[in-house]
Amino acid sequence: MASFKDLCFTPSEFANTAKIERGTIPMLESDGLLKTIKRRMGNVDRKMIALQGMQEYFRAIREMNGTPPVAAATGFKPTQPRHKIQMFYNVKGGTGKSTLSAQYAMRASMLGMRVLALDLDGQGHLSVNLDVLDAHERPTIYDVLINDLPIDQAIMNVGPGLDLIPANLGLCNIEIPLNNKPRREYRLSEAIAKISDRYDIIVADTNPAASILNGSMLVAAGLVNVICATNPLSFHGMSLVMATIEDMEREFQRKLEVRIVPNMYDSREVISQEVLGELKAQFGAHCTRSVINRSVDLNEATKRRTTVWGVNAKGIAAHDIHNMTEELLFN
Ligand SMILES: Nc1ncnc2c1ncn2[C@@H]1O[C@H](COP(=O)(O)OP(=O)(O)OP(=O)(O)O)[C@@H](O)[C@H]1O
Ligand SMILES: [Mg+2]
Repeated sequence: MASFKDLCFTPSEFANTAKIERGTIPMLESDGLLKTIKRRMGNVDRKMIALQGMQEYFRAIREMNGTPPVAAATGFKPTQPRHKIQMFYNVKGGTGKSTLSAQYAMRASMLGMRVLALDLDGQGHLSVNLDVLDAHERPTIYDVLINDLPIDQAIMNVGPGLDLIPANLGLCNIEIPLNNKPRREYRLSEAIAKISDRYDIIVADTNPAASILNGSMLVAAGLVNVICATNPLSFHGMSLVMATIEDMEREFQRKLEVRIVPNMYDSREVISQEVLGELKAQFGAHCTRSVINRSVDLNEATKRRTTVWGVNAKGIAAHDIHNMTEELLFN
């Protein structure tokens, strides 16, 4: 089990992600586009690609102008994300916001994005999922919005290409002081604007409520990823979620793009199939093609505070998170 920063990929895992033939890896190495390392496995040294090697490859081909080498031309070339500021949202609790936002932030970083993860829930689960256990000793967005701490002083690094503004229980007390601040819903977007140049994508995990803090993030974000568990109560709550978003759009005269990501799908359960069908029937245009299956790998990744690639790179969870990440970043 590898932590995020110690991730290593086999040549076939790398080739899969980069959408190239495995045989082109030596060409990429000789072009100086890809650095590989040797890892001892049993009695043999195996060629591997470390996390930084993969990130540098994607950054290099993204920035490449003119005709790229044949290998890169045929592969996957990440562009800038369609929406730089995104949030994972649902007023209902326990639908998978923190789990998927953490996995998304780590996967986007693997694809060479410079990522800022923003924990807007006093439970601090995004922070824990990103392996931060001392968030109670650190500044949070509370200090930025209420005590005027410069936002860059609330940012910590949690791995290559991945920064975090953590959260702790103190953040649960933000609603009253934030309510009393002038321009309360604009304070977060104004703070984010000060550091947004440093990042390709900023991803927030939110608290399960129609709070002012979440409202502030709806003012800051361009894309709202609503995580909906494929169970009847989660589906029932969707009308309220969509109404909340529409209210915010009206009040702040903004147009938000909304995606609904079905989570915890189990194809063996009739109820799961029914809820997915109803979600598509009612909110079809908003539903992502990617569906996240229920998988023990996601629970295990939470327990180990790492990415699903550190748990089981060949599992269904890694497959689903990969598809979701590409879709939410580029489509
Ligand atoms: N696809 C999945 N398969 C299996 N377990 C999952 C999946 N998605 C989330 N979980 C598990 O469900 C639980 C709730 O997930 P999570 O904490 O991410 O939800 P949340 O929406 O952030 O909750 P809250 O509203 O309290 O912030 C966690 O134990 C998590 O590991
Ligand atoms: Mg959560």
